[in-house]
Amino acid sequence: MEDSFEAGHVVVTGVAGFIGSHLAEALLARGHTVLGVDRRSLTASPAAADLMGRLGRPDFTFVQGDLARLPLEPLLMGAGTVFHLAGIPGVRPSWGPDFAEYANCNIVATQRLARACAQAGVRRMVVASSSSVYGSSGCTPFHEDGPVQPASPYGVTKLAGEQLCLAYATSGPRPVTTVMALRYFTVYGPRQRSDMLIGRVLRAAISGEPVRIHGDGSQRRDFTYVDDAVAATVAAGSAPGIREILNVGGGFSASVAEVVRMVERLTGRTVPVVHTPPSEGDVSETLAAPGKARDLLSWQPRVDLVTGIARQLEWMTLSTLHGSPGERREARYDATAGSSRHDG
Ligand code: NAD
Ligand code: UGA
Repeated sequence: MEDSFEAGHVVVTGVAGFIGSHLAEALLARGHTVLGVDRRSLTASPAAADLMGRLGRPDFTFVQGDLARLPLEPLLMGAGTVFHLAGIPGVRPSWGPDFAEYANCNIVATQRLARACAQAGVRRMVVASSSSVYGSSGCTPFHEDGPVQPASPYGVTKLAGEQLCLAYATSGPRPVTTVMALRYFTVYGPRQRSDMLIGRVLRAAISGEPVRIHGDGSQRRDFTYVDDAVAATVAAGSAPGIREILNVGGGFSASVAEVVRMVERLTGRTVPVVHTPPSEGDVSETLAAPGKARDLLSWQPRVDLVTGIARQLEWMTLSTLHGSPGERREARYDATAGSSRHDG
């Protein structure tokens, strides 16, 4: 194992999810012993098909449960580092009736975990925050010490979650030695959540069914390939610091319309598009100032957008051809997306 992590096993919350499943696999490949937690079972998750094969091996344990209710100290006993990725993602549905879920999972469960980490003597927490905390501050590129002005209820819960964890690094009866809050910028790649743009545009190209574009498609995102997001997260497991906020984004943005054109070039097909009114809280641009992650984590993204989209396309094509369990479940998930909280 080459990482200088704290002694003990690592805990990954949200392990059945898109980024959490990739992270757990990367940590296992690097020789760590991983305890994964998620309220979804691995069988119910489209992203966790590969982790299923790890069950029963000595280096991987899975506990199904809700962090807002689960007894946490038994999970944290002997853990050196906790990667907290569990949460309710997605900007647009957070305006809807499910806000209590966002508050419960992104704030209440996060506080409960941070408190339990402090009590159990966990030395390092790495917590998944979000570019959505910057919201409509308008000060692009976004610097970690710049203004935050979340433009959605989701963004508010992510800001509260990261700040709660950071508070546990400096205060309280027994602080967590190090807390690293990673502000991920729109992550994409294989297993991407079915509510997100790039997978939807690829599916539109493949199926011929139109993708709904919110507004005119001029909004821009600093898209981050999932392996790059995972590399930054692993690096945060041993980087110096006590209480740090770090952008995980490369400092390049592309518009939604540009993504559509890239997919058309890659697939050789026209992407059918239906324009819908702009979505509430959908900021016009996200753009990371990447310098701090570069300096503290020695990190910079390696995968450019065209290459990353091509890899996501390849994964989708292979999954469809071979009918992997993950993709079959993804398809069923999509079919109910109209009423799902993952619907955009
Ligand atoms: P995801 O929905 O695929 O994964 C999140 C997982 O957390 C799910 O498997 C879910 O079941 C689990 N979970 C939620 N609440 C829980 C609870 N109370 N107890 C136990 N498990 C719970 O989402 P993702 O895209 O992989 O995002 C992971 C994290 O990164 C989230 O915290 C999200 O807010 C953050 N983030 C994601 C992106 C992105 O572009 N995907 C960008 C910025 C931040
Ligand atoms: C993503 C994640 O979903 C959030 O959980 C995360 O916090 C956020 O990134 C972040 O960076 O912090 P978002 O940027 O909205 O949120 O990512 P996508 O769902 O991929 O959307 C990108 C853009 O495409 C948005 O402007 C969105 O309105 C647009 N879009 C998305 C559409 O026009 N149509 C769709 O069907 C989906």
